[in-house]
Amino acid sequence: MSAPGPTSYGDAWADVYDEWFGELSDTTPAVGVLAGLAAGGVALEVGAGTGRLAVPLARAGGTVIAVESSPRMAGRLRAKAQGLPVRLVVGDVLDADWSAHLPPGGLALAYLSCNTLYQLPDQQAQRRCLARLAADLAVGGRLVVEASMPNLALLAAGRSTSMRVLPDGRVAVTTVRADPAHQRTTTDTVVFDGPRQHVLPVRERYVWPAELDLLAQLVGLGPEQRWSGWERGPFTSTSTGHVTVYRKSSL
Ligand SMILES: C[S@@+](CC[C@H](N)C(=O)[O-])C[C@H]1O[C@@H](n2cnc3c(N)ncnc32)[C@H](O)[C@@H]1O
Repeated sequence: MSAPGPTSYGDAWADVYDEWFGELSDTTPAVGVLAGLAAGGVALEVGAGTGRLAVPLARAGGTVIAVESSPRMAGRLRAKAQGLPVRLVVGDVLDADWSAHLPPGGLALAYLSCNTLYQLPDQQAQRRCLARLAADLAVGGRLVVEASMPNLALLAAGRSTSMRVLPDGRVAVTTVRADPAHQRTTTDTVVFDGPRQHVLPVRERYVWPAELDLLAQLVGLGPEQRWSGWERGPFTSTSTGHVTVYRKSSL
């Protein structure tokens, strides 16, 4: 099997993404937070997927530059974003060119939701991504990262398997393997569809919050807020994820 690349996740998940995640219960508060931070300025989403956030954010009134590596995901987004101020850029965030869509003073907001930062293969790529975004933010502009906390039980066990029955009656079995030495998880969900099996892969290089803060600091972004999620609950030792806001200062 070939090594996973920037299009692997999106191309595999595009057909089922909205069915599985399109109605995530925190989509509305997420759009509320992002619209508030963008305040009518131009926002850039890395890994915009099918447009779950970019489309309602554009409907809320702001221009969204949607950077997406997977042509299949981008096709879905394009169809949903007709007539809206969404500027779709199909390519890898590490080398895609969105300069034609930048406003003169820079971006009001850049964001990565749903562990998208973890889909970049290593720390160097994650730092390069943040550096590219920081360079294009206006002074005072925000970077928002939504990510899950590393799962300590999984890291201790090394592996987990779970099963669920999908709304249409099909069975899905998910296996997660952890590699704490390299901060990687390998997740494969096998959907059993009669005699056929369909594998949905997720490859992540997870990031500890303190590491994320340091990566952000290295590219000139200071911490502003950390919540447990888009509903803006307090971030505590039992939080399973976080939404973190960084701000670009003039220094
Ligand atoms: C977990 S999905 C999140 C989709 C969307 N942001 C949401 O909240 O529903 C991650 C998305 O990032 C895209 N992606 C992964 N690596 C990327 C890269 N290097 N550059 C641009 N997009 C990437 C995937 O194709 C996928 O659509």
